[in-house]
Amino acid sequence: MTKYFTLQDIDRIADMIRPKLPVAPKVAAILGSGLGKLAEAVENAVYIPYSEIPSWPVSTVQGHNGLLVAGTLSGQPVLFMQGRIHYYEGYSMAQVGLPVRVMQRLGVETLIVTNAAGAVHPDFVPGDVMLITDHINLLGMAGQTPLRGPNLDDLGPRFPDMSQAYDRALCELARQVAREREILLREGVYMCLAGPSFETPADLRFLRTIGADAVGMSTVPEVTVARHGGMQVLGFSGISNKANLDGSTVTSHEEVLEAGTVIAPKMEVLIREVLARL
Ligand code: HPA
Repeated sequence: MTKYFTLQDIDRIADMIRPKLPVAPKVAAILGSGLGKLAEAVENAVYIPYSEIPSWPVSTVQGHNGLLVAGTLSGQPVLFMQGRIHYYEGYSMAQVGLPVRVMQRLGVETLIVTNAAGAVHPDFVPGDVMLITDHINLLGMAGQTPLRGPNLDDLGPRFPDMSQAYDRALCELARQVAREREILLREGVYMCLAGPSFETPADLRFLRTIGADAVGMSTVPEVTVARHGGMQVLGFSGISNKANLDGSTVTSHEEVLEAGTVIAPKMEVLIREVLARL
C-alpha cells in the first residue's frame, strides 16, 4: 500500500536538515540528468548526502549524485538538489514529491526545475535550452500524482490551480537574461512520461499531436507539489536528443549525459542571472 507522508513526517525531515543549513534558503533548484555540475556554482556550500536524511529517496541513476547543496548563489540563499529521483526507479509518487514538501517547510518560495529532455518539436536540436512555459501531466491524468491521498491542508488546497504552473514573471526574467547574454532560449510545453524506455516514433508523433515540445521522465510531479504549496516555479529543459519521429536514430542515456556538458554552462548563466534579479 502507498505510504502517504504526514505533516509530521515532513517536519521531522525538515527539522533534521534545518540546523545543517548555513542560511534559510528562499530558492531551491532540482538539477536533472547531466546537470549536477550546476551545483558547483553554489558558494560557501554545505553538502548533505541524501543517504543521511531519513526517508529521503536516493537516486539510483548514473549522472545523479545524491547531494543536497546549500549555500548562496548571486547573493541568494539557495538549496540545490544535485540529483533527483524518478518514478521509474520504483519510488511512489509520494516519495518523488517528498523533497519539495520538505523544501516548503524549510521556507523555500521559488523552485527552479531542470531536466534533460528529448526534442519533440522538429526544430529543436541537442544542446538547446527550452524555457518550460507549460506542461502536460499525462501521468497525473492517469492517476499517478504526488497529490493523491489525504490532502495536507497546512501545505495547500485539495484542488490546486495549475493555470500558471510556470511563473510568468520568472519566465520573462529568463527571456530577458537570454536576450542580453545572447543565449538562444527555446520555449515550449514539457511532457513527462514514466519511462524508463525511450519513446517509439509513434509515441513521439502522438506527443507532437497533443502539443508537446519536449519529453522527459521527471519534473511534472515536483512542479505539481510546488504549486500545491504556493511556490513560484521556473523550469528549463536541456534538449539532449533529437525527435526521432521516423525511427532513423537511436537514443541512449550516454548521449543525454553528454549533451549536459553543452547545456549546463548556458543554464548556469540563466540561473545565476535570474537569481541576481529576484
Ligand atoms: N525521452 C524521454 N526522456 C528523455 C529523453 C527522451 O528522448 N531524453 C532525455 N530524457
